[in-house]
Amino acid sequence: MKTRVTDLLGIRYPIIQGGLQGLGRAELAAAVSAAGGLGLITAGCFDTRAELEAEIARARALTDQPVGVNISIGTRRNMSEFVDCICDLGVRVVFTSGHNPEPFVERVKRHGMKWIHVAPAVRFAHKAQNLGADGVVLVGFEAGGHPGMDDIALSVLIRKTSAELDIPVIAAGGISDGRSMLAALAWGAEGVQIGTRFVLTRESVLHTDMKQALQQASEHDTVMIERSLRKARRVLRTPQAETVLELERQGAGFEQLRHIIGGAAYLETILQGRTDRGVLSTGQCIGLLDDVPSAGDVVRRIVAESAVVLDRLNDIANPPVTLQ
Ligand SMILES: Cc1cc2nc3c(=O)[nH]c(=O)nc-3n(C[C@H](O)[C@H](O)[C@H](O)COP(=O)(O)O)c2cc1C
Repeated sequence: MKTRVTDLLGIRYPIIQGGLQGLGRAELAAAVSAAGGLGLITAGCFDTRAELEAEIARARALTDQPVGVNISIGTRRNMSEFVDCICDLGVRVVFTSGHNPEPFVERVKRHGMKWIHVAPAVRFAHKAQNLGADGVVLVGFEAGGHPGMDDIALSVLIRKTSAELDIPVIAAGGISDGRSMLAALAWGAEGVQIGTRFVLTRESVLHTDMKQALQQASEHDTVMIERSLRKARRVLRTPQAETVLELERQGAGFEQLRHIIGGAAYLETILQGRTDRGVLSTGQCIGLLDDVPSAGDVVRRIVAESAVVLDRLNDIANPPVTLQ
């Protein structure tokens, strides 16, 4: 496959494994990259520069294909140190997300890195382009994690942004198979960023009980929390998620919610399967997923299915002539 995104990132397929807090580790990222997509190590998984360095080294030992890094700005950690780390290690691709990336732009550009910013709205995509981003990810309402505060569907975001911007646009939210990737490409995207589908893979370090819960979940089983904190986040609908909503209704701030939405509870949930502690970001496409394949198989299935669907679409556009 060839788009400006595959050219920019030096990858075979325009399929990116997005930043995954606590889960975006070397095995997963390397498996996606080895299969021809781009895996991202999530810097937010680590407390220190040394840990991030070690993880990048592990990914490089697992594959000779490029692996990028996701830096979520505005989390409690000092991301500036992590930006220095990836500059020094010669990482070739960085995806920033969250708050304003401006303080880091000059540094990553000076080191020749390709820089893509994750934006939840068209206006932020324009801002990233103006700052010199090489590409932008647009996150739709259906996405797991933080889809922004505007509640705009991916189908609208991608058509609008790709029409208005000069840089390539990558679609995130609800992409889990070949047909959804093709739809995003039809809307004007030149790549897809995937979260939830890669969370539910063999290489993901998510606890088995959580993987089982995800396999059983339907498209109705996600809910948006943290809207009152202006950090709307789509998570798996669990009793803890409902508690957060109720506390938000009562006017709770972060400190009153920390025992559920803070980092400690999150780690217990993803690594020990404790749904009675924290919450797990999950996209609506969870309703379409019921297996736990390898991450490489996810990439290969997407590519194979998109070829079949493309043939079907071609048959619709140019019906095969049947002889009487
Ligand atoms: C469990 C989980 C953790 C996530 N953590 C991050 C993160 O740390 N940084 C980030 O930029 N995006 C994060 N995201 C968002 C994903 O990178 C991606 O944009 C989103 O999942 C796409 O929507 P989908 O889940 O429908 O595929 C996370 C998503 C999930 C499901």
